Amino acid sequence: MSEQLVIQGETKQERYEALLPQIKSVVEDEPDLIANMANVAAMLHVTFRFWWTGFYRVQGEELVLGPFQGPMACTRIKKGRGVCGTAWAKAETQVVPDVDQFPGHIACSSASRSEIVVPIFRAGEVVAVLDIDSAELDTFDETDRHYLEQIIKMLS
Ligand code: SME
Repeated sequence: MSEQLVIQGETKQERYEALLPQIKSVVEDEPDLIANMANVAAMLHVTFRFWWTGFYRVQGEELVLGPFQGPMACTRIKKGRGVCGTAWAKAETQVVPDVDQFPGHIACSSASRSEIVVPIFRAGEVVAVLDIDSAELDTFDETDRHYLEQIIKMLS
């Protein structure tokens, strides 16, 4: 496996376009989900310098913290709770421009201002979520949703 290239690009669309083939090459020959989650979290985090980038895995009735980059985080989240538990319960991506306006948002870090959570499916069931936090308001939009959903499909 080669070293991660430094991703450059004027726009985030350009950076996602450059990142997609790198992520594909890293995950396509590796069947272990945890190993792939670890590398995907690292590659997204290094490219975009998010505040927190990581995964929670479904374990029974809870999400349990998985591979991540950034400060320490809450370890367990119940179904339907917070942004992550909502993405799991609704089985759809949540884009949150201002976490203070999201009822029930779980503040693992008071620095987090906006957030996106993308569910990961296997056999039609949510098995995990990708959670990304930004220290700035309104970081995530339809471009992030589009590309992150593509990245997540590589893990499914
Ligand atoms: N804010 C999330 C909890 C996880 S941390 O952001 C890492 C939520 O409301 O589900």
